[in-house]
Amino acid sequence: MNYPKRVKVVEVSPRDGLQNEKQIISVDDKLNLINDLRTAGVKHIEVTGFVSPKWVPQLGDAKAVCAGLTWDEGVHYSALTPNMKGLDAAIEAGIKEVAVFTAASESFNQKNINCSIAESFERFAPVIEKAHMHNIKVRGYVSCVLGCPYEGAVNPEVVADVAKKLHDMGCYEISLGDTIGTGTPLKAQQMLSLCAGQVPMSQLALHFHDTYGQALANIHACLELGAGIIDASVAGIGGCPYAKGATGNVSTENVIYMLDGMGIETGIDLAQLIAAGQQISEVLRRKPNSQVNNALSVK
Ligand code: HMG
Ligand code: MG
Repeated sequence: MNYPKRVKVVEVSPRDGLQNEKQIISVDDKLNLINDLRTAGVKHIEVTGFVSPKWVPQLGDAKAVCAGLTWDEGVHYSALTPNMKGLDAAIEAGIKEVAVFTAASESFNQKNINCSIAESFERFAPVIEKAHMHNIKVRGYVSCVLGCPYEGAVNPEVVADVAKKLHDMGCYEISLGDTIGTGTPLKAQQMLSLCAGQVPMSQLALHFHDTYGQALANIHACLELGAGIIDASVAGIGGCPYAKGATGNVSTENVIYMLDGMGIETGIDLAQLIAAGQQISEVLRRKPNSQVNNALSVK
């Protein structure tokens, strides 16, 4: 076993979580969520997306959310930027880390960002270049790494090729998205191993949605191979509007409980994280989609 001693957790609930909510969530509620996560010791928070409000109206308040952020030393806020318009808005909002996103599936990419995989690279090249000119770090997402809602099975070699391309273009970290949560542990290991043949393992992140209840098992399998970056969403909120039926990311509470139990450090306080999950669940008027939160919050 090659477990890491410490794991970097990237909290994606304000973006991935809230992009998929039918109800309107106020800017204040979004900022409360971000502040609660900060209080719990979360150091990497994807706060919003500068995407087209025609495509994702839930994130139409990106500018206002960024204007209300409290900037603490050591806390890193990031935002999605699908094109130059998004990057320019992120720069204006003072964001210091952005993420571009493409997929290992042509059909999903067309539905999600209205272009082919090759076109997405052409679109990202000047975005990454300009971001770097402004000292902004760029993360790259690959969606559909373990299955596509439109094409079914996805070739892991294609995932590794897309990851390599993003890395070669200057993305400092590549997040591997099991967008619809269909992956299982051995397939996750195979996919990660192929990616790690192209991009250093220390720059690969696991972004697993929990639609089939496999996310934690898949994360554990990948930790065995030495993966050290995990994307997660408090209370398990989330999903992609362009992947029908996709539910939330693995809940951060479940991840932290497992890592605490394995003696792997994260710097995140589970009790405060539970409180953050309770708070946003109250706003959303439903129970957290997290067994650990539900079990510990009644104690
Ligand atoms: P398009 O329609 O081809 O773009 O969309 P366009 O350039 O023709 O623009 C259309 C309109 O949107 C124009 O407005 C633009 O100004 C505006 P109009 O002139 O008609 O009034 N527009 C923008 N507005 C604000 N910010 C922008 C922006 N860009 C254009 N950045 C586009 C192409 C990429 C913009 C669109 O497809 C889009 O925004 N897609 C985003 C979809 C999305 O956010 N999906 C969810 C996130 S990805 C995800 O969840 C997966 C992930 O979690 C990993 C995983 O789980 O796998 C990351
Ligand atoms: Mg996602």
